[in-house]
Order: sequence, then C-alpha cells, then structure tokens
Amino acid sequence: MLNRVIAWFDARYSPIALAQDRQPPMGVNKFMFYFIKQFRVAVGLRMVLVAIGSVADALMPIFVGLVVGMLATTPPGEMFSRNWPTFVFMVVVLLGVRPVTFVLDQLVRNHAIVPSIVNLVRWQSHWHVIRQSWTFFQNDFAGRIANKIMQAGEAIETAVNLTIDAAWYAVVFVVVAVIALAGLDWILLVPVAVWLVLYGILFVVTMPLIAKYSEDLSEARSIMTGRIVDSYTNIHTLKTFSTDGHEDKYVSDSVLDHTLEFQKLMRVFTYMWSVLFLLNAALVISITWLALAGWNAGTLSAAAVATAIPFALQIMNMSGWILDIGSNIFRQIGTVKDSMDTIAQPIAMVDDPGAPALKVDKGGIVFDNVSFNYWRGKDGTVMEDFNLEIRPGEKVGLVGRSGAGKSTLVNLLLRLFDVESGSIRVDGQDVRHVSQESVRAAVGLGQPGHLAAAPVDPREHQVWPADGKRRGDDPRRRAGQGRRGDRRPAGPARPHRLRCPCR
Ligand SMILES: Nc1ncnc2c1ncn2[C@@H]1O[C@H](COP(=O)(O)OP(=O)(O)OP(=O)(O)O)[C@@H](O)[C@H]1O
Ligand SMILES: [Mg+2]
Repeated sequence: MLNRVIAWFDARYSPIALAQDRQPPMGVNKFMFYFIKQFRVAVGLRMVLVAIGSVADALMPIFVGLVVGMLATTPPGEMFSRNWPTFVFMVVVLLGVRPVTFVLDQLVRNHAIVPSIVNLVRWQSHWHVIRQSWTFFQNDFAGRIANKIMQAGEAIETAVNLTIDAAWYAVVFVVVAVIALAGLDWILLVPVAVWLVLYGILFVVTMPLIAKYSEDLSEARSIMTGRIVDSYTNIHTLKTFSTDGHEDKYVSDSVLDHTLEFQKLMRVFTYMWSVLFLLNAALVISITWLALAGWNAGTLSAAAVATAIPFALQIMNMSGWILDIGSNIFRQIGTVKDSMDTIAQPIAMVDDPGAPALKVDKGGIVFDNVSFNYWRGKDGTVMEDFNLEIRPGEKVGLVGRSGAGKSTLVNLLLRLFDVESGSIRVDGQDVRHVSQESVRAAVGLGQPGHLAAAPVDPREHQVWPADGKRRGDDPRRRAGQGRRGDRRPAGPARPHRLRCPCR
C-alpha cells in the first residue's frame, strides 16, 4: 500500500522534461528560480505542511506550561475529569497533526521533489551546454564542465529544500514563540528581541562570506577534477611524454589551491559558531532570570515560568541548527553560482532565425577568399584569401605537414568556426546562412585511419599545398612552437590540454 502511494509521488515530475524557455537565465536567483518554478505545486505544498509542523512544534513548550499549571491548581483525583478537553487537544496534535504532516511532507520532499529536481537540473543544463559551439568545449576541460553540471543539480535541490526545512520553519516557529511569550509577559520579549537582532547580524555577515568562499571552493574543485580527468583522458600522451613529475605537480598544485580555499571557508565557520555559542548562553540566562524574577515578584505563575524556559532552550537548539542549515544553503548558492557561469552562457554560434536546411543536389564546394586565424589575430593567421573550388564529383586530396591547416579547412566547411572574411559555399549556399545541423548532416567524415588506408598517388592527381596561406612557411612552426601553446587563454581556468597526436 505504502509502496503504491510512494510510486504515485515518484511519478509526479519527469526528470527529462524541458522548460519552455530553453535558455537558463544569468543571475543566481533567477537561475535557481528557473528550475524551482517547474516544481511550484510540490514546493508550495511543502511550505504549507512545514508551517503546520512548525506550529505543532511550537505548541510543545506551551503544553509543558499547561501541564505544570494543572499540577499546581488541580486537586489529586480530578486531573483527568477536569482537564480532559486539553488532553484530547494535546493527543490530537501529538498523535494526529504532527505525524500526518510529517509523513506527507516526506512523501512530497523525498519522492516528488528530490530525485526529479536533481536530475532535471542536470538534464536541462546538459541539454543547453551540449548545444554550445565546438569552441566552447575547446576552451574548457570536459571534466570541469561535467562537474559543474552534476553539482548544480544537487546544489539547487539542497538549497530549496533546506530553505523550507530551516528558514521557513524557523520563521513560523519564531512568530508563534513571540506571540506566546508576549501573552505571558512583555518583558520576556526583550531578551528574545535583542538576541534576534544579534543573531540576524551574525547571519547577514557570515552567510555572504560562506557563499563567496564556497563559490571559490567549487571553482577550485572543478579545476582539480578537470586536471585529474584530463590526465586520464590523455593517458597515452602522458605515459609517452611526461617527465620530471611535471604532471604530478600540475595536479598537486590544484589540490593545494583547493585546500587553501577550504581552509578559508572553515575559518568563517569557526568564528560563526563561537559567536553563536555566546549569544545562546546569554539568551537562556536572561530569559530564565527574568522569568524567575517575575515569579519572585508575584507577576508570573509557575506555569508561565515553565513555558518560558523551554521556549528559550528550544530557540537555542534551533539557532544552532538553523545556522548550520543556513550555511549549508549559502554554500549551495555559491556552488550554484559557480555552475551557472558555465551553464547559463548564451549559445554563441546560433543559426539565423528560420535558417533553411542546406540542399545538396550536385555537391560542389567553394572556398571563396577565405581568411581565418582562430582567435589569434592577424599574426596567427592560418589561412589568408584562400581559394579552392571542388566541382561536383571531383575528388581532392589535401596533403601538408602537421599544422598546415587541413583539419581547419574541414572544420570551417562544417561551420565549427565562422570564417574571418570570405565565404564557404556548398552548391551556392553560404554555410553561415543555412542550419548548422543540415551542414553537418550533409558532410560525411571518415575516421582518420580510413583516409590513410586509401593511398593517393600525387602523380595521378592535381595536388595543392595544404598550407592555406599564400606565403610558403609558418614562421611559428620554424621557431619550434607547438600547437599546444597556441590556444586562447580561457580566463582563470586556462585549460592545459594534452592533445592526442592522432587528431
Ligand atoms: N582549436 C584551435 N585553436 C587554436 N589554434 C588551432 C586550433 N586548432 C588548430 N590550430 C592551429 O591552426 C593551425 C592549423 O592546424 P590544423 O589542425 O588545421 O593543421 P593540420 O594540417 O590538420 O595538422 P595535422 O596534420 O597535425 O592534423 C596550426 O597552427 C594550429 O596551431
Ligand atoms: Mg589535422
């Protein structure tokens, strides 16, 4: 039976649904809300259930006060006959309201929300990122991107659920506590008010620090993961060429950076907990002292004292718990922000609106005065005013030394990059003005080995130099600069890429 109920909650949301607007927005609140609003019914239901649970919890110190009041005023033998309506109410709250709201909340939280939102965030983030241009991936580590996508799912889930579990719960609890204490004696509110202000300051000061250091920590973690994964991905090159512990140092540097960021974060926690410890001690002592002084002066009953002191103790316990959860929420927000910077980037090379599909009826290809330099400016030009016409049915072999630009030529034809100037046309259609998908579907690519397996005899074919430049040689190559150093730096996390020689 319970399994059927659980299965019903499990099936409420699909983790592979797509949002209406496929572009996740920038800005950490908007970014989180973009995913959370897809679960708005379940999240709204949780808020109602948690509020009911919180009111029920806040009734506990009031019940203690009521029982103490009954003990002081009821003669023995009449406890139940006189007070049964109050006891029935207590039993309904303890045995009915609390367990029912708790179980319902668990079903919504653990079954309707958690597994689905974690994976929906990952899926929608991946769906968007995979549509980024080739350049986007060239400028980053695969491991680093994957880490950002994976962590975003967990971070958003944890942030939203903990906010409801802790922040929302606490708001409702404090409202009930303030009403109850004010009903006993207004003077009891003074220490609570002072404590709330100081606690609020502590919260406001520490939480942004935690968010910031967590963001730095998560970036350091992505770099560390990226470097480790990159080593495994390029294990062949690494085993062949790595010397002098260079690669070990490369990874250990990132481990040290990560540890440093971790230490900064932990320092904030140490300060925060120390201050809270003092605040709580002061709260409990002042409320207890005021309550006992009220009893001494005859203004407070024993029942009122018995309500006030458990309230102070409960607020004290809750404050530590909320700070703990609050810092966890802000850590998650830092992580989300770090992921968002990668995930929510707008897609760079998009099709023209309503771009038609490429129509290939003959198969003629023209490179018309093409110039291209990746992102290296005029000095790093790969081809300049390059012209090539391949007529329908014609077979052309490109021969040239490594780095001459053979792959670049094919990549430009596939529109993995846009030309600097000039144009590339297939059957008269500029590849920039038709859909990218149709260009890539129309151009067949064999494995590198397959090309080599079909020997070309240059004596029987017309052979062009593959170097697209009109000038003969590439001065950077003469200077012995490898391709590895030619890449554009990608911000702080400059990828260190060992390229497989077979590319
Ligand atoms: N992703 C890239 N970013 C920046 N520069 C690049 C990139 N890929 C290639 N280059 C540069 O462009 C030039 C042409 O490289 P390309 O890979 O097209 O040569 P190739 O003829 O295919 O070489 P190989 O025979 O080794 O495959 C080289 O100077 C290289 O450093
Ligand atoms: Mg090549």
